[in-house]
Amino acid sequence: MSTALLQIREVSKTFHSDGGDTVALDQIGLAVNTGEIVSIIGPSGCGKSTLLKIVAGLDIDIEGDVLLEGEPITRPSREKGFIFQEHRLFPWLNVERNIAGNLSLRDPAVRRQVDDLITLVKLQGFEKTYPKQLSGGMAQRVAIARALLRNPKVLLLDEPFGALDAFTRSHMQEALLDIWRENRTTMLFVTHDIDEAVFLSHRIVVLDSRPGRIKSIITNDLTLPRKRTSTAFQELRTVVLRTLEHTEPEKESWEI
Ligand SMILES: Nc1ncnc2c1ncn2[C@@H]1O[C@H](COP(=O)(O)OP(=O)(O)OP(=O)(O)O)[C@@H](O)[C@H]1O
Ligand SMILES: [Mg+2]
Repeated sequence: MSTALLQIREVSKTFHSDGGDTVALDQIGLAVNTGEIVSIIGPSGCGKSTLLKIVAGLDIDIEGDVLLEGEPITRPSREKGFIFQEHRLFPWLNVERNIAGNLSLRDPAVRRQVDDLITLVKLQGFEKTYPKQLSGGMAQRVAIARALLRNPKVLLLDEPFGALDAFTRSHMQEALLDIWRENRTTMLFVTHDIDEAVFLSHRIVVLDSRPGRIKSIITNDLTLPRKRTSTAFQELRTVVLRTLEHTEPEKESWEI
C-alpha cells in the first residue's frame, strides 16, 4: 500500500492569550498524495492559514503530528515552498536575483535552473526587471519560481491570487496548472474562491469554523482542462457552495 506524501494526523491547535483560549483547529486529519492539488476552503478565521503554517513547520506548538514522506515536520525547510497572498519579493533585487536568492547566478547549474523557471512562469525578457515594475500577477509568478527553485516536495499556497483582479487571477490559475502539468508539484492551496478551488484541485477540503474542523472532502473528477462554463463544473461549484453554506451559520458571501 502506498503512503501519502503528506500526512496531517489528528492535528489540533489552540492559541492562548490573556483574553482566553482560541481553538483554531480541532482534530484535522488529511492525507495528500504525491502530485495532488488539494484546496482548502472555509470561512474567514476557520484556521486555513494556521493549518498551512503548521505544515510549513512554522508552528510546531500543536497536538497531533504532520509527516512529510513519513518524517515529522519540525521546522521550515526547502522541501516546503510557501507562497503568500502578497509576493514578498526583495524590492532591491531584480527578477532573476529574487528567484536565485542566496544561490549564485554565476554557477552554470543555477543559471540554467533559473532560466528554465523563468520560461516556465513565462517571464522571458523580464530577468533584469525590478519588482516595482512588475504587475501583481508577474510578481506572484516570480514568487512561484523562487519557491520552485528549491525543488519543494510540496508547495503551500495561502490565497496566492487573492489580491489580483479576476482576469489576472484566472490567467494565474491556468499558469499554475501549466506548472503542475510540467512538474506534477504537490500543492496545498488555500482559497476563498469556489471557482478557483474547482478549477485547480483534485480534492476540495471544506473547513468548518469555531473550531476549525473538516466538514467535508469533495473529490473533483472533472478532467483537465476544466471548462468553467460546463454543466459539470457548475454542478460541482454548487456542491461546494452548498457545503459551505451549511458550514457557516452567519451569511457569508462566497466568490463563485
Ligand atoms: N497568532 C495568533 N494568536 C492568537 N490567535 C490567532 C493567531 N493566529 C490566528 N489566530 C486565531 O486562530 C483562528 C484561525 O486563524 P487563521 O488565520 O488560521 O484563519 P484563516 O482561516 O486563515 O482566516 P482568513 O480566511 O481570514 O485568512 C482565528 O480565530 C484567529 O483569530
Ligand atoms: Mg488566512
